[in-house]
Amino acid sequence: MTSTHPIQQLDTERLRQHVADQLVRARERTALLTDAVDEHDLVRQHSRLMSPLVWDLAHVGSQEELWLVRDVGGREPVRQDIDELYDAFRHARADRPALPLLGPAEARGYVRQVRDKALDVLAASALSGHRLVDHGFAFGMIAQHEQQHDETMLATHQLRSGPPVLHAPDPPAASAGPLPAEVLIPGGVFTMGTSTEPWALDNERPAHQVHVPAFFLDTTPVTNGRYLEFIDAGGYAEPRWWSQEGWAHRQRADLSAPRFWRRDGSGWLRTRFGVVEPVPPDEPVVHVCYHEAEAYARWAGRRLPTEAEWEKAARHDPATGRSRRYPWGDTDPGPDRANLGQRHLRPAPVGAYPRGASPLGVHQLIGDVWEWTSTDFHGYPGFSVFPYPEYSQVFFGGEYKVLRGGSFGTDQVACRGTFRNWDFPIRRQIFAGFRTARDARPEELA
Ligand SMILES: [Fe+2]
Repeated sequence: MTSTHPIQQLDTERLRQHVADQLVRARERTALLTDAVDEHDLVRQHSRLMSPLVWDLAHVGSQEELWLVRDVGGREPVRQDIDELYDAFRHARADRPALPLLGPAEARGYVRQVRDKALDVLAASALSGHRLVDHGFAFGMIAQHEQQHDETMLATHQLRSGPPVLHAPDPPAASAGPLPAEVLIPGGVFTMGTSTEPWALDNERPAHQVHVPAFFLDTTPVTNGRYLEFIDAGGYAEPRWWSQEGWAHRQRADLSAPRFWRRDGSGWLRTRFGVVEPVPPDEPVVHVCYHEAEAYARWAGRRLPTEAEWEKAARHDPATGRSRRYPWGDTDPGPDRANLGQRHLRPAPVGAYPRGASPLGVHQLIGDVWEWTSTDFHGYPGFSVFPYPEYSQVFFGGEYKVLRGGSFGTDQVACRGTFRNWDFPIRRQIFAGFRTARDARPEELA
């Protein structure tokens, strides 16, 4: 039994409006993130891990021009001469500040011009008839791309030094009441990935059956408070909790706590978008790399979940056997279901989103923090490139670990139960945390 995605129920006019809304929403966020700082901050590099903000801005326009203006629309290029500058595969992030990039005013003018043409193309498109535009796919891909760069730009803001320039209300308080530490996910087959979600990217496809043995999963992401126990127990000084590769990295990078933390007497402070504050114990830990997550899990007598385990916990409905779009069902996330979309500039305390829980009672799988899984990034069985190999295929292999669920910095258009993110296991500037799992013992299943 397959469900119909809300997009598939829209007539062409409504679909066009929906697409335009997503593009406008993305641009409002891009404007907020780039207008918040002065010209100097836009063009300079805040970390070798990141592009200058003004590169992200024009790159967003460049991709929109390539796919919507030229490819879908068959229109004349706005600026063909800059394609190469904004090709993410030509220049490493560290090298981008040295390029002859468009300045802030030029970049803003460029993305505006491209957007005008793209909206023209949208108005003329039937949004059906070939795969690139069916259900508005290419437009949805571009809205997702811009929102993904908005999350990257938010990470650049976190790396920037200086007084705070971004402000947002705090997330809701915990309201779920006492929660069990872990939830049993029964063994059996479930449907992983999707063949029906209209804006799903190639790496989420196709839907396929996966057998997942029974396992236990943490009810919530691991909190700062729990992570502090690992630090206090000398976790960073004990090679036995770390993989060989992880320990080598811990030593080389001199890791001793999550990124942006520092000791303050007997306690800990963290810096969050320019605000220095005590580390809140009930919030999911964020800015830890894969190796730290793995070491914590081993210290706790547990392990990280596989990607399939994570998705089964997030999507499988034991009552119907069907996989849902989200833990709570098929409806899009709202502010009461998940901490997404930069609505709050921090993860919410655990237990803050009881309405976002899965049928089996797993909380905060969507939003708050990306969750490291133990799985390397590969194509699913039956994978086929669409629309271009550089979206995901070139990253397949053993170098990247899959992250799931999205963070407070992720927009809902780029977040769903099937969405896959990936990064190097040493990365900490992303909004990533984790939860742990363990195998179920036979006597626990009787
Ligand atoms: Fe990009």
